[in-house]
This record gives sequence, C-alpha cells and structure tokens, in this order.
Amino acid sequence: KEEPLVLGFETSCDETGIGIVRGNTLLADAVASSVDEHARFGGVVPEVASRAHLEAMVPTVQRALSDAGVALADIDAIAVTAGPGLAGALLVGVAAAKSYALALDKPIYGVNHLAAHICVDQLEHGPLPEGCIAMLVSGGHSSLLFVPDVTGDVQPLGQTIDDAAGEAFDKVARVLGLGFPGGPLIDKAAREGDPEAIAFPRGLTGPRDAPLDFSFSGLKTAVARWVEKRERAGEKISIPDVAASFQEAVVDVLTRKAILACKEQGAEYLLIGGGVAANSRLRVLAEERAAKAGIQVRVPRPKLCTDNGAMVAALGSELVRRGRVPSQLGFPADSSQPV
Ligand code: KG4
Ligand code: ZN
Repeated sequence: KEEPLVLGFETSCDETGIGIVRGNTLLADAVASSVDEHARFGGVVPEVASRAHLEAMVPTVQRALSDAGVALADIDAIAVTAGPGLAGALLVGVAAAKSYALALDKPIYGVNHLAAHICVDQLEHGPLPEGCIAMLVSGGHSSLLFVPDVTGDVQPLGQTIDDAAGEAFDKVARVLGLGFPGGPLIDKAAREGDPEAIAFPRGLTGPRDAPLDFSFSGLKTAVARWVEKRERAGEKISIPDVAASFQEAVVDVLTRKAILACKEQGAEYLLIGGGVAANSRLRVLAEERAAKAGIQVRVPRPKLCTDNGAMVAALGSELVRRGRVPSQLGFPADSSQPV
C-alpha cells in the first residue's frame, strides 16, 4: 500500500511555504517569500507578512500541486505550523490549512515549527535515529536539544540568553551595509575574507559560563564598535574580513557547544536545522569537528534549512505513520508555543 500523501503549510514568518510529501519522499517544496517587501525596513514587518501570506496562499498551493503532479483530491492528510512565530502570519496559514482540511474532509495536524525544522532531515537522509542532539539556529532561536524521537517532546539543553544566531547575522549585516536578510550576504562576503583577521569575542565560553547556553549580543556590539572606531578614524575596512571574522566567532561557538552536548548525552548524531544551518562555514566546521569526535552530522540541503512547507509536511507524514491522533479542527495558532 502506498504511503499517505501529506500537504504541509508554513507561514510563521515571511515565507509562505507549501510542501507535499509521500512518506519520506519530497514531491513539492513551493515557497513564496515576502522578504523583498521587508528589506527596506531592515527586518520582517508582521502586518506586511500576514498580507503577503494571504495573497500568496492559493497560488502557492496550486504551484505545489502542479510541481508534485497530484490533484487536491489525492491529498490524504494536512499539516500546518501552529507555532511559534508571528501571530498574524500563523493565523493565515492555520485558517487556510483548516479550510482545505474541512473542504477535503481530511485529518489535520497542527505542528511545532521547530520540530518541523528537525524532522525535515528525514526527507534527505531517512529516519532520524533516536536520541540525537539537535542544534536549531534560526532568526528566532538558537537552541541545543536532546531529541528522544523525531515527533517532538524534545528536552532543551541550552539556548541563547539574548540574540538568536540568525538575528546576529542580520544585525551585523546591517552594520556592514550589506542588506537584509543578512545571513546569506555575510556568508557570501566571508568567502573572500580572512576568518582570523579580527579576534572577535566568543560569548559564554568562560569557565564559569553555562556550557550549553549561547550569547551573541556582545559579539554584535563588538563588531559594531570595531567598525565605528575605524570609520571615525577615516580608515578603510575590509568588509570580507569583518564578515569572515564575525562568522567564524559564531560558528566556532555553535559547533564547539554542539559537540559538547553530544558528548555529555552520549549521542552519536548531531542534527543541525533552521535558517543558519544553511551557512556554508557552519556546515564545514561542524563536519570537521564532529568527525574528530566520532559524531555523525546530519544537515539538510540549504533550501530545506530555511523556512519551507516541506518540513511541515515531513513532520505531518511522521505523525500519520505513527498513527497519532489528528488535531481538533478548533486548534489555535500559538505564537509562543515552546518546542
Ligand atoms: O529558519 P529561518 O528561515 O526563519 C526563522 O524561523 O527564523 O531562519 C532565518 C534566519 C535569518 O536570520 C537569516 O539571516 C539566517 O537564517 N540565514 C543564514 C543563512 N541563510 C539564512 N545565516 C547564516 N548563513 C546563511 N547562509
Ligand atoms: Zn524557521
């Protein structure tokens, strides 16, 4: 018997993502982004995002169906991000997904955005082993989690005490005048730079600091001060060197603490997810350090790391496979849902 066909909806931030999977096979991953509309504000404007989701919803569903070569009537189950995220943006996805579920008379699963960032890796590398460590690094989160199994119920081991890693990338990109979102732009600029040019601080790495927590706000300030000081003195700065040195400071701490978490928990697998997992230097350094520690890294391809609907469909598919009871149609969008 064929595995069920699952349609996933993601609208927690500025991407309208519609994914279709069958089992762990990815059939469609349609994403419409409103990022260009937010760029001139230097960050996502919630009201603009909600309106863009509304406009993109039906065309993006249709694009996904056509990419997958299936009809709406073929869909067996629906999954949607219920939280965490921007309240108004979540509401659009949840309302749309419920409408499709009601019209098609199919079960619907309201799922956690962060759990979906973890589960998406199954589309690429097959079933996730039990008891792995996940490092979720995005615009809103930087957490180390123990993942007993892929459907959620994770145990937080550490998290950022101030800015998220992606937030730091975005803020430093603004200081350097690179644009928004900053992560991919810093990643690109850093390729031409020297990661050892400037010794930026590594947050929370002192002997008395919480070993698995992160802090990026001091780093962001250090970069801003460094740039300001030189600009005031009329010195020319190398943007690639600043970008590379900043990026190195972030990924050095992320990978160091992720490996430590694996060692402490006796985990053999490290899964990296969320938008910052698309970072090319993070992927290389994590691989390098994990190999030395005998740990296997699992990180999905960059397009599946940033927000998308396939990750939501992947988690929905796993819930169906495990025979989990679907959500009641009245379930709410929950902007502050914990992982
Ligand atoms: O997971 P995501 O798409 O949305 C959230 O749930 O937050 O993550 C977006 C974040 C942004 O801060 C963006 O700058 C960052 O991920 N990002 C990157 C890269 N691509 C996206 N950060 C570093 N390097 C990248 N290549
Ligand atoms: Zn995300």
